[in-house]
Amino acid sequence: MREATASAPGKVNLLLRAGRPDPDGYHPLVTVFECLDLRETVSVRTSRTPGIRVDTTVRRPDGSTDRQATAALGDLPVERHLAARAARLLQRLAATGPWAQTASGISIEVDKRVPIAGGMAGGSADAAATLVACNDLWGLGLDDAHLQALGRTLGADVPACLVGGIALGTGHGDHMTLLRAGEDPDPAAHHWVLALAAHGLSTPEVFAGLDAVGGPPGGWRPLPDVEVDLVAQLTGPADDLAGALVNDLTEAALQVRPGLARTMDAARDAGALDVVLSGSGPTVAALARDAGHARALAEAWRGTPGVADVLTTRGPAAGGE
Ligand code: C5P
Repeated sequence: MREATASAPGKVNLLLRAGRPDPDGYHPLVTVFECLDLRETVSVRTSRTPGIRVDTTVRRPDGSTDRQATAALGDLPVERHLAARAARLLQRLAATGPWAQTASGISIEVDKRVPIAGGMAGGSADAAATLVACNDLWGLGLDDAHLQALGRTLGADVPACLVGGIALGTGHGDHMTLLRAGEDPDPAAHHWVLALAAHGLSTPEVFAGLDAVGGPPGGWRPLPDVEVDLVAQLTGPADDLAGALVNDLTEAALQVRPGLARTMDAARDAGALDVVLSGSGPTVAALARDAGHARALAEAWRGTPGVADVLTTRGPAAGGE
């Protein structure tokens, strides 16, 4: 039996600009991801039983855990689980390699800390960590570019979870340029407070809502270039980052979940440096000055109607490793 373990981070989008959808329905994006110190850990083990099994331990912010076998992770059948799909991709490559005889069965343990369906790329982080772990398990020697190319076929956020740090995503948000590496410990870390909702939002539904209203406020416009000044702001200290956060999906998400406006206002009222919807939501991210400010914001935010849980975290964090 062979075994390998890897982890990958969830993210917030510091900047998300969406263009008019392509004929395939996907939107061209200019987006900047910041990976967070909130990681999915994946252990993969070869198994004599053919096929793929996924067991997930969900870790909640309050410290409670919930163990779920694959078929029971929400309503997700194993063939739709991104970790299973990532493993299957590499299983095909391993079938012709030196460990071919170990490639028919695989058992995957996912230790989940990234909120499910929160707009924080938890599923993509599962896929990213599984790609890294299976690459190691079967000694495939795939380089970063190859893993990102495979990840892109699984989901638009997978390359960001592989790269980590603060990274620009173009194309469908899946072609990455690293702007600032994730370091741990990082004395210049950004401190974030996250407000989690009780129920997730569907990313396709939010994008469809954006299309239905003819694009972001002001209509579809050409996607901006991310110039050096903006890169400096987004990768700089919290005071520089404040005011630069923007997400074109905000209005569309508010159409589906109007209560998010109150969540965002509550963080502003509590003194957050800036507030942004994470990806397609419903997680809302508030930027804090430092760790103490983050704790104070978290206390003030807790108990706001519509806020199921509050988490503090930091970024930028390392990618898949
Ligand atoms: O790639 P992924 O499966 O994570 O995307 C989920 C959904 O988000 C897609 O089905 C699509 O509706 C939407 N999406 C999009 N444009 C992107 C990325 C995602 O429309 N660039």
